[in-house]
Amino acid sequence: MEKTKKNGSVKFFNGKEIPLEMHKVRIVQSLKLVPVERRLEAIREAGFNSFLLGTKDIFLDMLTDSGTNAMSDQQLSKMFVADDAYAGSQSFVKFEKSVLDVFGKKLILPVHQGRAAENILSQIFVKKGSVVPMNYHFTTTLAHIQLNGGTVVELYTPEAMIIKSSNPFKGNIDITRLDELIVKYGRENIPFIRMEASTNLIGGQPFSMKNFKDVRKVADKHNVIIVLDASLIGENAYFIRKREAEYENKSIGIILKEMCDLADIVYFSGRKVSSSRGGAICTNNKDLYNKMKDLVPLYEGFLTYGGISIREIEAMTVGLYETMEEDVVGQSPSFINYAVTELDKLGIPVIMPGGALGCHVEAETFLPHIEQKYYPAGALVAAFYLISGVRGMERGTISSIRDDNGNDILADLELMRLAFPRRVFTLSQVEYLIDRLNWLFHNKELVGGLKFVEEPPVLRFFTGRLEPVGNWPEKLMAKFKADFGDSL
Ligand code: F0G
Repeated sequence: MEKTKKNGSVKFFNGKEIPLEMHKVRIVQSLKLVPVERRLEAIREAGFNSFLLGTKDIFLDMLTDSGTNAMSDQQLSKMFVADDAYAGSQSFVKFEKSVLDVFGKKLILPVHQGRAAENILSQIFVKKGSVVPMNYHFTTTLAHIQLNGGTVVELYTPEAMIIKSSNPFKGNIDITRLDELIVKYGRENIPFIRMEASTNLIGGQPFSMKNFKDVRKVADKHNVIIVLDASLIGENAYFIRKREAEYENKSIGIILKEMCDLADIVYFSGRKVSSSRGGAICTNNKDLYNKMKDLVPLYEGFLTYGGISIREIEAMTVGLYETMEEDVVGQSPSFINYAVTELDKLGIPVIMPGGALGCHVEAETFLPHIEQKYYPAGALVAAFYLISGVRGMERGTISSIRDDNGNDILADLELMRLAFPRRVFTLSQVEYLIDRLNWLFHNKELVGGLKFVEEPPVLRFFTGRLEPVGNWPEKLMAKFKADFGDSL
C-alpha cells in the first residue's frame, strides 16, 4: 500500500530531532583494528590500492555500499521461501510485481548486477559513432559504451564541480546543451540519453524532478529514448522530497513512480538499490524489451533468474518495496550529512551539500602539494587507511583512463569516497572517522604521491598496483605513533 503520510520526527529536549521510524541492529559482525605496523604491511601488499586489501586488515569498510548494505529481517526471511527453479520460478513472478509496484514497469529482464545491464544496453543500442549524453558517467557505464564504439558526453552544470555549494541538485543535466548536442550530432547518432540518479562520481548528487521533466521534453522533441540508471534512485527520491518544495508532501513511493514514468528504460544494480544482489532492466515498451531479451540467456541466465540465485531474487523483491520507506533511503544521507557538516567545521574539504552513498573528501585541496599526476586521491585513501584502518575508495584520476597517446586523462574531481552502506555503521564509528581525518589533515604535509607499477588497460583502478613516491608512509606512521602511542 502507498504511504501518503509525511514521516514525523521525535524532538529532543536539546533541540535535535531523530526520525520517528528507525532500525535496531539484530545481527552483528565483529571488527578488529590491527596495529598501524600491520596496516603499513597490508597497504604495501595491496599495491597501495584499497581494492586489494583483505577485510581481516580493515576496521571500517567504507569502500562501497555495493552488496554491503544491511539487509532487513524481512529480506532474510523471504530467502528461505525461495521457489528454486531454472525456469518459471514463482519468486520471479513476485519480483515482477515489485518492479511494477515500485517503478511502474511491466517488462523485466533480470541480470546478475548493474554492469551486466550496461553490457546489454550498450551492445544493443550503442554502435561505432554513437554519442551518449548523460549527467555524468559511471566507470562501468563508460567502459561498456566505449567497448561498443560509442562516446560519452557529460552535460553537467557548472555547479556540479563546486565543492562547497548549497545547490541542492548538483546532479542536474544542462538542458540547453542537451538540446544543442542532439542537433549537432543528429538524432540518429544518439542511442539514448542516460540520467544517473544520485550521480555517483560527483559525490552522490541528485537531480531534481523539474530537471528530469525538462529532459523528457527534449527527448520527446527529438524522439530519443531516456535510460535511467536507478542504482541510487531511492536516495535521489529522498532528496527530491527534502529539497524540492513541490514534493515535500509526496511519499517516496509516489516520487519513485513519477521518476520512472519519465524514463523509457530503467536499469539498476540490486547490490545498491535493493540492499541485495542482482539487478535488472525494465521497460513498458515491448519493442525495446524484445531487442534486449535474447542477450539475457546468452550472458546472464534464463529469463526468470538472470544469473543470480532465486534467494537473491526474493531479497531483491523485498528490498525494492523497502526503497519506498523514508527511514531506509534516508538513513545513509542523514549520516553523511552529519559527517560532512562536522568535517566542514574542521576546515576539511568535503563535497557539500552531502549527497547519497558516501562522504567525499576533496583531495586536491586536502593535499595541495601533490600534483594531480601523482594521484592525490589515491594517496589520500592509502594514507587514511594507514592511520585509521578505514578503507575508502579512490574516485579521481586512478579511476579515469589514458588517452590515445598514453597520457592520463586527469579527473574533474580528485575524491576519496568514504561510503556509508545503509544501516551498517553507528554514529560513534562516524566520530572515529572524523577524528582520524582531522589528525591526518593536521599532518597532511607528510603524505606524498603514488605512481603505477602495474596498470591493466581496462578499469585499472580495480586491480592496478602502485607504489609511493618516496618513503612517506614510514614517516607518516612514525608521526602517528609519536602522537597516539599504543592507541593502534
Ligand atoms: N551504476 C551506478 C550509478 C553505480 O553506482 C554502479 C555501481 C553501477 C551502475 C554498476 O553496478 O556494481 O552492480 O555492476 N557502483 C558501485 C560503487 C560499484 O561502489 O559505487 P554493479
